[in-house]
Amino acid sequence: MRWKSFSSKGLLGSHPSEYKISGLKRILKWITGAILVVLLLAFMAVFIAYWRSSNDCDRNTGTPANPMKAIRYCEYGSADVLKFEDVEKPVPNDNQVLIKVRAASLNAFDAYVIRDSWVGRLIFGLRKPRDTRLGQDVAGQVEAVGKNVTQFKPGDEVFGICRGALAEYACALERGLAMKPPNVTFEQAASIPLAGLTALQGLREGKIQPGQKVLINGATGGVGTFAVQITKSFGADVTAVCSTRNFDLVRSIGADHVIDYTKEDFTKSHQRYDVIFDNVCNHSFAERRRVLNPKGVCVVAGMGGAGAKGSEAIGRILGGFTARGLSSFTDQKFALYRTKMSKQDLIMLGDLIQAGKLRPVIERTYKLSDAADALRYLDKGHARGKVVITVE
Ligand SMILES: NC(=O)c1ccc[n+]([C@@H]2O[C@H](COP(=O)([O-])OP(=O)(O)OC[C@H]3O[C@@H](n4cnc5c(N)ncnc54)[C@H](OP(=O)(O)O)[C@@H]3O)[C@@H](O)[C@H]2O)c1
Repeated sequence: MRWKSFSSKGLLGSHPSEYKISGLKRILKWITGAILVVLLLAFMAVFIAYWRSSNDCDRNTGTPANPMKAIRYCEYGSADVLKFEDVEKPVPNDNQVLIKVRAASLNAFDAYVIRDSWVGRLIFGLRKPRDTRLGQDVAGQVEAVGKNVTQFKPGDEVFGICRGALAEYACALERGLAMKPPNVTFEQAASIPLAGLTALQGLREGKIQPGQKVLINGATGGVGTFAVQITKSFGADVTAVCSTRNFDLVRSIGADHVIDYTKEDFTKSHQRYDVIFDNVCNHSFAERRRVLNPKGVCVVAGMGGAGAKGSEAIGRILGGFTARGLSSFTDQKFALYRTKMSKQDLIMLGDLIQAGKLRPVIERTYKLSDAADALRYLDKGHARGKVVITVE
């Protein structure tokens, strides 16, 4: 009798399987609660980030105390959002160099940062662009240096990478600059940094060797024109992919063979390449593998320059990452890389130009006040070489 009451439901509780079910229910409740808390916190974080993301257009509405002319953008949009106006002249910190800008050049990146896209807003500011300065490639004269700067002094002629190059003055870190070679103009020097470094470092990723067959897709933009010439200077055999109107240009900078992408798809040819330097990323992993040698390398440099927009651009970026992932299962490698600032590489590019082995291709120059027109032109996606801004 006693035993019976102990073993009955009242004293010993539920059957083991009921225990399991109620345990599972508790875990599910806990997980649901945790997810709701995380979602609520994420929503609050986005809400706060959104309302706090203002920029200096909101903060500094008065007349600048020490004015200079500069290009800035207060909102996302097209080149129409660029304003040429008076802003406060920057003051270098202890590690910075103040440059009197003589020339700057535009890159596809400058077109990407001002665009109104959800990816852009996540990176550059949810509600408004946090940093309203534009331009990265700079060449000019050192005006002043911070107290920790040892390699430059006022009067030096320099070129390199900084924030806000589209201005009369800009501040750069010492490690972002190199001395401008004497017989290179400010316009030429300003055309080198990002495009030249991207070409040089990408070709290094491809480990190009003399005599190799190298195909450059997107050979006539800022990066492509440097890539063709650097590849040639390594003693490789260069095939350039471009549109009909650029045949003469790529031949003049050293391409051995030219493929017109408007008439022929290079991934359908019988030719095989040791290295593909891909500035466009408009072919699938399988298509590019087909024209790579068994141990070939495809360097994924970009997604077609300033002309690639919206879902096409996102598709190409995802295609690059997918190809990189899939290639870890094959002998043909797909390399993704991010251009790094390197003083050594800048000096090397400057020396190549000084020695006449590399010639920056500058298609157009615009005045600082016309920077919006310059960006409008680049944004069409068919610049031939670099678009340079001169600063009087
Ligand atoms: N990995 C990095 O860290 C890094 C750094 C800097 C830049 N990048 C990327 O490098 C890429 C190139 O930059 P960029 O400054 O050279 O751009 P760009 O000056 O705007 O040039 C784009 C070039 O692409 C060509 N092009 C467009 N569609 C093409 C197609 N279907 N087939 C072949 N060529 C085509 C155009 O030639 P046509 O006029 O003949 O069409 C144009 O010359 C960009 O996507 C940029 O984002 C990457």
